[in-house]
Order: sequence, then structure tokens, then C-alpha cells
Amino acid sequence: MKGVILAGGLGSRLRPLTLVTNKHLLPVYDRPMIHYPIQCLINAGIDEVMVVTGGEHAGDFLKLLKNGKHLGLKTLRYAYQEGEGGIADALKLAEEFADSGKICVILGDNIIEGNIRKAAADFFTQKSGAKIILKEVPDPHRFGVVEFADAQRSKIKTLIEKPKNPPSNMAVTGIYFYDGDCFKVCKDLKPSGRGELEITDVNNYYLNRGDMTYETLEGWWTDAGTFESLFRASKYVAESGANHLDLAGSRPGLFGTGVR
Ligand code: DAU
Repeated sequence: MKGVILAGGLGSRLRPLTLVTNKHLLPVYDRPMIHYPIQCLINAGIDEVMVVTGGEHAGDFLKLLKNGKHLGLKTLRYAYQEGEGGIADALKLAEEFADSGKICVILGDNIIEGNIRKAAADFFTQKSGAKIILKEVPDPHRFGVVEFADAQRSKIKTLIEKPKNPPSNMAVTGIYFYDGDCFKVCKDLKPSGRGELEITDVNNYYLNRGDMTYETLEGWWTDAGTFESLFRASKYVAESGANHLDLAGSRPGLFGTGVR
């Protein structure tokens, strides 16, 4: 299975920092943000990766990541997203790379403590469809949120993007597994009220098709797209060393092997 890291967008919530660099190159503790989703994929056994980025500083990704070999990747491809058309718009650019196969998509500002190896293995054997990863949060209005069909929370009714009155505290993290149909779904989407192609609409398509599984994530999860969450991400990583990319021992002794 291949991996796609979505690292486009303008990072407007992190201005002025993002006037001079891409959001995903900002430091989270002692590494650039993009290192964490890369490590997350590597930990899941995925070493063929595409990074979708955009904006004025896209060239800096090449300087940092090069061909990805030093990071443990077998192949690293890049795609350039014009503008900020949304997460599903960025995903469209990975169609050729995916080559009709299954993919693991991770948002470039998502950082997790644990790993998604089991979810990846489970999706690998899932016949078709999608899988999403959920996490309970104190601030669900900031995320895609699950509305459950029953009080036992045994079935998902629908997913709602940033609801004003969240029907649950269960957020949809920025880690998704899709079959090759996701690209057609993205192409058929209409922009939302905020003018973006929403990944939540892609997920609802699979949910309505009756072809979506989900898992709840162990350990902490955070995004890093606001000053509060960027600060929190650094704090969490510093305290736990989670998903800390080991650059051939470039920081020996700090976090041991770095791969947790
Ligand atoms: O972090 C999880 C949440 O991410 C989900 O719960 C939401 O359903 C999902 O919509 C998303 O919400 P955000 O508002 O936090 O997404 P944001 O616009 O910050 O974009 C997250 C990442 O997606 C960003 O770091 C890079 C990538 N992206 C985003 C946009 C808008 C792109 O590659 N291209 C884009 O045009």
C-alpha cells in the first residue's frame, strides 16, 4: 500500500510564521512537522510516499526531504496543488501515483503518539471501501465529527465537518484509508460553503455506500495548524518522543532509536 501526505494549503491560521515558510516545515519540537507523518507511514510499513504541497515555498520540501532515502523511504514523489481548494482537491493529485491501488492518506499537520500498523494491515485485507481513524477530543467543533446512529455508539449515522453543536466528542482524525474509487469521488464533489472540496464528503460517500470501517486511535493525537495546537504538538512530542524520525542517528541518545 502506498502513502499520500497532504501538505498543501496556505497555513493562514499560522500567519505571520507561514509568510516565510510552508506550515509543514515549521518545527514541532526539534523536527520539521512533515517528518512526523512520514514516520507514521514508515511505522505502518509504508515506504512509497507522495507529498502533495503548494504555495510559494514548495521547493523547500525538496531541500529537506530530497529523494527520501535518508528517511527510510523507498520512493518519494511530489505533486503541486494550485491554490487552496481543500483536502479532497489535494488528494486528486495522487491519482496516477496510486495507480488504482489502496492508499493511506495522512494530513501533513497530524501527529500521533502510537502507530497505525494494525489499521493498515486490516485495511490491506478489507475488500474495498474506506477506513477512518477516530479519537475522542475535548473540542470536537474544530474537526470532522461522528454522529452515531444509536446510544451504544455501535454504528455511524453520518460525519459532519466542524459542527457548531457537535453530536458527539468523537473526531475524525486526518488519517484515512481509501480504495482506488476515492479519486472519482473527489472529482464529483462540489465545493462546500467555505469553498473547499471536503474530505468529510468523501468519507460520507463511503459511509452511505456501506463500505466504511473505523477504528479508535490509542495514545494522543493532535493537529498542528493553529498556534495552540502547534505548541501542544511540540509539548507532546518533547514529553514522549512519539513518531520521532531517526535520521541515521542525527540526534543520538535523545530518543533512543526514535521509532516507537
Ligand atoms: O486534523 C483533522 C481534521 O482535518 C479533520 O477532522 C477534518 O475533517 C478535516 O477537514 C481537517 O480539518 P482542518 O480544518 O484542520 O484542515 P486544514 O484546512 O487545517 O488542513 C489540514 C491539512 O490538509 C493541511 O495541513 C494540509 C492539507 N491541505 C489542506 C487544504 C485546505 C491540503 O493539502 N490542501 C488544501 O487545500
